[in-house]
Amino acid sequence: MTDSVLCARGVRRSFPQGTGVVDVLNGVDLEVSAGEFVTLAGPSGSGKSALFAVLSGFDTADEGDVLLLGERMAEHPSWQDCAVLPQVMGLADELTVEENVALPLRLRGDAPESAVARARELLDELGVGALADRYPTELSFGQRQRAALARALAPRPRLLLADEPTAHLDHATVPLVLGLLRRAADEGAAVLVATHDEEVHEAAHRRLRLVEGRVTAGASPL
Ligand SMILES: Nc1ncnc2c1ncn2[C@@H]1O[C@H](COP(=O)(O)OP(=O)(O)OP(=O)(O)O)[C@@H](O)[C@H]1O
Ligand SMILES: [Mg+2]
Repeated sequence: MTDSVLCARGVRRSFPQGTGVVDVLNGVDLEVSAGEFVTLAGPSGSGKSALFAVLSGFDTADEGDVLLLGERMAEHPSWQDCAVLPQVMGLADELTVEENVALPLRLRGDAPESAVARARELLDELGVGALADRYPTELSFGQRQRAALARALAPRPRLLLADEPTAHLDHATVPLVLGLLRRAADEGAAVLVATHDEEVHEAAHRRLRLVEGRVTAGASPL
């Protein structure tokens, strides 16, 4: 596929558990193209977050390959092409919400004014603009989740991996988040979202399932 952004082939990952080893990923194959919004379902503990760690380069597969824009993840020249919204959010507590969102833009050399303007725009769209000067620990989990999504979206990444991006949100806020995920895909990003939320699956172009360590096309989410 010529517009493939993310491609995983034969990804295997095991972890030590007790005196043994648990095989969490048993040969994952998947592909997400530019402009696609794809969801990944799977029971709790099936390995969605473990897979995202490998796909984003935070963890390394025991076997198999992950390609970002046709290049092996470890050799990919630009960290800016992949953005992650981790399940644990990972905001820097010593920075304000606005500084957190502007950080990836400042790190790549954007001017402070444009970085802050982009951060403000996204925070406003996600309904947390009034919290821009607060610190993450002063926010609710749902507010932090939106701030973390704003940070992931800010650099307009080619690949966005969002792990349970609606887990802490109230019903009224979910469409805001879905709207921005869809827009990122419409603007050409490859968007992969792990979720248990049927509303998120329904908003996607395509859904996948992680079962027994392998990814299959998923007709019915779990
Ligand atoms: N670093 C690690 N060390 C040991 N075991 C791990 C590690 N990371 C994940 N696991 C194990 O891998 C399995 C999958 O965990 P993972 O967090 O990926 O599940 P998940 O599908 O994301 O679940 P949830 O829907 O609850 O978020 C679990 O059994 C977990 O204990
Ligand atoms: Mg998880």
